[in-house]
Amino acid sequence: MDASVDVIEAREVERQTPRGLVPPALPPSAALAPAIPDYLMDTYYWAYLNPRNVRLLDREIVVSVILWGQHRRLRREAFRELRPGQNVLQPACVYGDFSPALARHLGPRGRLEVIDVAPIQVAGCRRKLRGFPQATVRHADAAAPGGGPYDAVCCYFLLHELPEDYKRAVVDALLMSVVPGGKVVFMDYHKPHPAHPLKGVTSIVFDTLEPYAKSLWRHEISDFAGAAEGFTWRKETYFGGLYQKTVARRLAVPAREQDAPRHTHCAPE
Ligand SMILES: C[S@@+](CC[C@H](N)C(=O)[O-])C[C@H]1O[C@@H](n2cnc3c(N)ncnc32)[C@H](O)[C@@H]1O
Repeated sequence: MDASVDVIEAREVERQTPRGLVPPALPPSAALAPAIPDYLMDTYYWAYLNPRNVRLLDREIVVSVILWGQHRRLRREAFRELRPGQNVLQPACVYGDFSPALARHLGPRGRLEVIDVAPIQVAGCRRKLRGFPQATVRHADAAAPGGGPYDAVCCYFLLHELPEDYKRAVVDALLMSVVPGGKVVFMDYHKPHPAHPLKGVTSIVFDTLEPYAKSLWRHEISDFAGAAEGFTWRKETYFGGLYQKTVARRLAVPAREQDAPRHTHCAPE
């Protein structure tokens, strides 16, 4: 039995045990696995954890509809930043065939590692990537991804689902996951043009279903980075500003070292 199954069982036990009663002993590996964050349980259970809904929603057409028909274009723009042969982290599953397409893009000499904090998503993504020996899927939280270092990270529509402290933790963890010269690609929502015909309906959807998304209307993604100065940042927007690609490239030589006067350092004997 793998760790993800243990965690599903642990959650099930938690759910089924009435408050005040002591639950039966959990499998030891459950303690080592990352916990499902509160925001995921409270806000997104229906979308990512409920098995019946996951079976229903894990389709390309669903992502395309949610992204107003822009999914394929945005995906292309994200992949444009990644070269075949690179070692890439995808820090959360995406419904439909995003991960197989990314594995195909990186090619047989590349490497794709997908992580997700929800065991049910890990299991689904593993099934989708069966035919791709260059790809693996791991149960981990994007705020503590482990693995790496990677040539690049491809973070597709994860940030808008995270509360502010989690946004900061994830952005920092992803920045620290790439090699010097490597890049982190964030594809996500952005504040649309004031006259955008879909601004009103998007605003209502966010207020109803996506309570953490509007912070991307008020902040640049670089605002969430504690170590932003070790990176160059660039942003492009799409579809009347509703979406953005922000790319953080890690400086090959950290800025402070470049600027510092050169002197010989004598190590103490
Ligand atoms: C990438 S986002 C949304 C992508 C796209 N909108 C879609 O519909 O597929 C959804 C995934 O993020 C995962 N997720 C949420 N918080 C996470 C975290 N802290 N670490 C890793 N995965 C996380 C969820 O379990 C879910 O599988």
